[in-house]
Amino acid sequence: MTTLDQSFVTNGTFKADLFKGKVVFITGGAGTICRVQAEAMVLLGANAAILGRNQEKTEKAAREIEALRPGARVVACSNCDVREVTQIKEAVDRVVAELGRIDFVIAGAAGNFLSDFNHLSSNAFKSVIGIDLLGSFNTVKACYDQLKKNKGAILFVSATLHYYGVPFQVHVGAAKAGVDALSNALAVELGPLGVRSNCIAPGAIAGTEGFDRLTRGVDLKKQIPLQRYGTTRDIAEATVFLFSPAGTYITGTTQVVDGAQWHMGFKY
Ligand code: HXC
Repeated sequence: MTTLDQSFVTNGTFKADLFKGKVVFITGGAGTICRVQAEAMVLLGANAAILGRNQEKTEKAAREIEALRPGARVVACSNCDVREVTQIKEAVDRVVAELGRIDFVIAGAAGNFLSDFNHLSSNAFKSVIGIDLLGSFNTVKACYDQLKKNKGAILFVSATLHYYGVPFQVHVGAAKAGVDALSNALAVELGPLGVRSNCIAPGAIAGTEGFDRLTRGVDLKKQIPLQRYGTTRDIAEATVFLFSPAGTYITGTTQVVDGAQWHMGFKY
């Protein structure tokens, strides 16, 4: 089911055809956070490609997102593991053949579970680093020619948990710290080519897979300065801003969308 609808355009901050003629390429596009990013971009005129490992989930999400705007095209690239750069490259070639170009890249595919250090195997650590960090690198690697050609922009989906120590998240914290470093280095190196690179770091966003897993039913609202959980729409708005012409001088930064939660520190 989609989270956004036409009211994002008719009642929203951004104009309807903001991304007309543009194409966004999204890994993890069938998951909650990346999916709403896809929805927002498509509602505002872009065509999209979403990548995922699960065929049924990826296809279903693509058809639902496509239905949000008459004339929209959303390509589903399933059976694609971001740990394999050749699989992403095949998806890129298909998307360029079908949609003509890639302007924006969202590297959002992620894996997460709670595990204490003692029970976290070397292979489990490697899996999460492989999906979150190597997968992010691979995504940009595969899209590089298109990004360069179209003076595109990259958005990595990061987190805030590596700003301080979060127990049971050794693997994800390490991976996301690497993602931030990757983004900063790319911003500097690809800036002269006209390619921007930023991160978005969601806080507790209600209704997402990560939220349910990490909060486990505990009410954290009072620990958030803005006294509410984030919404997927908050993520959509920040994403659109960073890709829009309003963000053209913004690169090498992380947009935290968390109601200032991380400034409060982690509460045991
Ligand atoms: C301890 C675990 C584990 C768990 C898996 N492993 N789950 N260890 N606790 N709950 C171990 C396995 O035993 C194995 O190690 C190793 O991890 C690899 O597991 P596989 O299942 O073979 O790997 P793979 O298919 O690559 O799966 C990757 C995964 C999985 C990350 C482990 O959870 C996954 O595919 N997740 C994708 C979906 C997902 O998690 N989305 C959430 C995104 S939300 P051994 O030693 O036995 O071989 C998100 C929000 C972050 O990321 C927010 C942060 C604030």
